[in-house]
Amino acid sequence: MLRFWPFRRKPDRADISASGDVPRRRLFGREYTAGIPYALPSDLGEMNRLDFQHFVLRQAFKGNYAAPLHAPSSILDVGCGTGRWAKEMALIFPGANVVGLDIKEPVTDEQGQSSTSTPDLLPENYRFVSGNILEGLPFPDASFDFVHQRLLFFAIPGDRWQFVINELCRVTRPGGWVEVVEGHYGYDPMGPAAQYIADAMLPAMQKRGIDPRNSANLGQFLQQAGLQQVQQRMVKLPVGDWGGRLGKLVAVDVETFIQSSKPLLLAQGMSESDVTQLGETMRQECERLHYTWPFYIVYGQRPG
Ligand SMILES: C[S@@+](CC[C@H](N)C(=O)[O-])C[C@H]1O[C@@H](n2cnc3c(N)ncnc32)[C@H](O)[C@@H]1O
Repeated sequence: MLRFWPFRRKPDRADISASGDVPRRRLFGREYTAGIPYALPSDLGEMNRLDFQHFVLRQAFKGNYAAPLHAPSSILDVGCGTGRWAKEMALIFPGANVVGLDIKEPVTDEQGQSSTSTPDLLPENYRFVSGNILEGLPFPDASFDFVHQRLLFFAIPGDRWQFVINELCRVTRPGGWVEVVEGHYGYDPMGPAAQYIADAMLPAMQKRGIDPRNSANLGQFLQQAGLQQVQQRMVKLPVGDWGGRLGKLVAVDVETFIQSSKPLLLAQGMSESDVTQLGETMRQECERLHYTWPFYIVYGQRPG
């Protein structure tokens, strides 16, 4: 079943267009933000996956943050996606100004509307700012009490991680906290189908300069950025029915994640049916081998 895929397939359409001032790109029926290394789509399907994933992670981590916060007055979420995390933080801390930063405002419906087109659904203390973290954050030094970044492991080139963490640290006030959450690239344990998918995706990402295997080094990056009291926690989420309610939810997230990653696999020469078959085999492995998906939650304090 696990055949080698020697031929690269040409994308069905790879046209470049622009929405607002952000160029877009289509690949195998999915829509991407052009001009950045980020390897996942940014269309409505992906936004729905991110919202679902947010609810699963909040339940699994028993909350939205781990750092010991005391009434922060300003919060920044870098690579905020749909902004779900940041909007919830705006409700949890009504006295704080909360900013979600992303390369592009998220689409929220089939017409391609963005969240600011429905201001009645936005907390008053939340606002979206567009920016590219790889070019540095568009804020002065020491602007925020809490700076958070989650799941950019498919977005940040291996040699830019320290720069990105330094930026998070720069815009954090002395005494404030930086928290970074990343998923491990792969599962624990790892069966042959999951290993096959991971091995197939890696060259597609390496072509963009991305090495998604950096999650375990986050603690070192935070320390090198000068943060103190750095704490690193690993949480293993069950994947599959064997893991009860949480395992079932994580399995749905993993399945939709494979759908979002499918264009990368197709571009490497796999066929649609290869991907479907691998996904099915992986589902069986999750149950048989009791897969878990490890996450790293790392936080540290900027010296006062
Ligand atoms: C996997 S999503 C995670 C979203 C959100 N942090 C969450 O946990 O739900 C990664 C996000 O990073 C954004 N992103 C990718 N590259 C970026 C860049 N260079 N600058 C800013 N945002 C970026 C993407 O647009 C996407 O919304």
